Amino acid sequence: MIAQLECARCAAVYPIDQVRYLCRCGGMLDVSHDLETLRPQLDRSLFDERLRGAPEPQTQPMTDSGVWRYREIILPVAPESIVSRPEGNTPIYQHPRLSSWAGMDVLYLKHEGENPTGSFKDRGMTVGVTQAKRLGARAVVCASTGNTSASLAAYAALAGIPAIVFIPTGKIAAGKLAQALAYGAHTLQVDGDFDDAMRLVRRVCDELDVYLLNSLNPFRLEGQKSIVFEIVQGFRWQPPDWIVLPAGNLGNTAAFGKALYELKQLGLTDRMPRIASVQAAGASPFFQSYRSGFETRSAVQAETIATAIRIGAPVSHERAVRAIRWTDGLVTQVSDGEIMDAKAMVDGVGIGCEPASAAAVAGVRKLVAEGMIRPDQRVVAVLTGNLLKDPGATVGYHTGQWEDATYANRPQSVAGNLEDVRRVIEDVV
Ligand code: F0G
Repeated sequence: MIAQLECARCAAVYPIDQVRYLCRCGGMLDVSHDLETLRPQLDRSLFDERLRGAPEPQTQPMTDSGVWRYREIILPVAPESIVSRPEGNTPIYQHPRLSSWAGMDVLYLKHEGENPTGSFKDRGMTVGVTQAKRLGARAVVCASTGNTSASLAAYAALAGIPAIVFIPTGKIAAGKLAQALAYGAHTLQVDGDFDDAMRLVRRVCDELDVYLLNSLNPFRLEGQKSIVFEIVQGFRWQPPDWIVLPAGNLGNTAAFGKALYELKQLGLTDRMPRIASVQAAGASPFFQSYRSGFETRSAVQAETIATAIRIGAPVSHERAVRAIRWTDGLVTQVSDGEIMDAKAMVDGVGIGCEPASAAAVAGVRKLVAEGMIRPDQRVVAVLTGNLLKDPGATVGYHTGQWEDATYANRPQSVAGNLEDVRRVIEDVV
């Protein structure tokens, strides 16, 4: 046995090739690797050699993808079945102005918005669509706040599998809708919010023979683990003190916890960073649950400018609780104003991200101010999506549609003559 499906709640197991999203007991499933067998086979130098591009003939996605580089602990598959752009290998940035704004000596930013379709979803989708192809799925389906649908549309198009995406009408950013349409997905706009669309899709997948590729699907999370693998490898296998990420449906929080747990079990790292999951205050059911010591769990009616994380009933709650417990992590929330100001700072130093991603940076600033994070600690904030995803939110912030825009960069109108332009230039330089 190399890998099988295992219930995160009751530990029941199922074959890896069974189409199944939930356990009989209702618990969520993990891809469970045989860590004991893998432990002696895997060491840091194996992954370091692949990173340096050691030749592996006819295995192009396996060398060029920042996901498949870690294939033994993601999904062991034959190279020819892989559907890849390739994804991953994203940069880690830092900028002194941004670090000091956040209150840190150095704040590292892992930019997942620089994946092929502009978000971290590509890491999960290369694995999910590869598995869909192996299973012979006749169509792949997801509900989405936008990025998952963009990514699914692209990878399904690459694989030649029809994609059907369910999105909340009027609540997804323009860039993401454009991608779903452009990549040829059947795009169904659902009355209601993401949570309504998610409920509908779960029923569709139970009753119609189509393959679900929301993060409920365990293969998606396997790919998303590679964000953590790359961060840790990027720091020469010395894990940072904190990894801070935005949280909506909680798939990524769950994946990060599983990745850190496995790295430690495999002896590839000797300690775990702490995970800090950051929610938008208007969409913070996980934060509310955290405040009760995870004793309570209730859905909320979600509202936030960060439409990617406008989610009131996150699907991966249980697996995310496990991640916070494993890593001695925490959950916090930030307001829309804090999110948009953080975004303006990330954008303004030339890096750029979409609103949901900026929640991570706003979260770091808040946790430093509260004394939870020390300025000299090594902290990586994950920027989950690209600046170009949500032009509406960005332009709105800078053109006065946003009341408390601290760092608004208003466009100026000039008449078409040199004198006018001279006045503007002398004003700014
Ligand atoms: N950041 C961005 C840019 C996202 O698109 C998402 C989720 C998240 C953060 C939150 O990640 O759900 O794993 O906690 N987007 C999903 C979607 C829901 O449909 O694209 P999560």
